[in-house]
Amino acid sequence: VLPEPGLKRIGPFSDFSNPGPRLAGRLQARPSNERNSMAIQQTYSMIKPDGVRNGHIGEIINRFERAGLTIERMELGMVTPEQAKANYAEHEGKPFYDGLIAYITSGPVVKMVVSGEGAVAKCRSLMGATNPAEAAPGTIRGDFGLIMDENVIHGSDSPESAEREIGIFFE
Ligand code: RTP
Ligand code: MG
Repeated sequence: VLPEPGLKRIGPFSDFSNPGPRLAGRLQARPSNERNSMAIQQTYSMIKPDGVRNGHIGEIINRFERAGLTIERMELGMVTPEQAKANYAEHEGKPFYDGLIAYITSGPVVKMVVSGEGAVAKCRSLMGATNPAEAAPGTIRGDFGLIMDENVIHGSDSPESAEREIGIFFE
């Protein structure tokens, strides 16, 4: 059955850029300071060599965008040993450090600057726990990872780390 001309489809896929009278009224009713108070952040995220090799680039970017995050910059390429050491400086001297540097420089990655409200925490929650064996189903590591040493994706752990890491990979 064809929709009558002039009728707008409503439901979960309606057009939120044109909210209609009910939602528009609710948005208007909120005081302007509340409307503007949410913090837009940037974070650094990187699809690791196993994520690229196993063909998960599209699905990961899709999950970010579906969650309301914006891909601001993106590049497919290798990580240099200097970049790897700078990014993981906090882990120098730990037993897994040498393996981590070797792995992250072993094949192409996707480097991204991702932005949105609370982007640092949102990206980390989409990623899931560090160890894929413990990451919840529905998270990127829970769905696409198997082992601690190859856990699909990296994401900055704080706004300060994000600024530092964006500087390592994009400036
Ligand atoms: P990432 O920095 O890669 O986003 O991971 P993360 O914050 O969740 O975890 P982090 O503690 O920063 O560790 C960096 C990477 O090192 C490996 N790792 N192995 N065997 C171990 O105990 C161990 N701990 C960490 C993981 O591959 C982790 O992603
Ligand atoms: Mg980390």
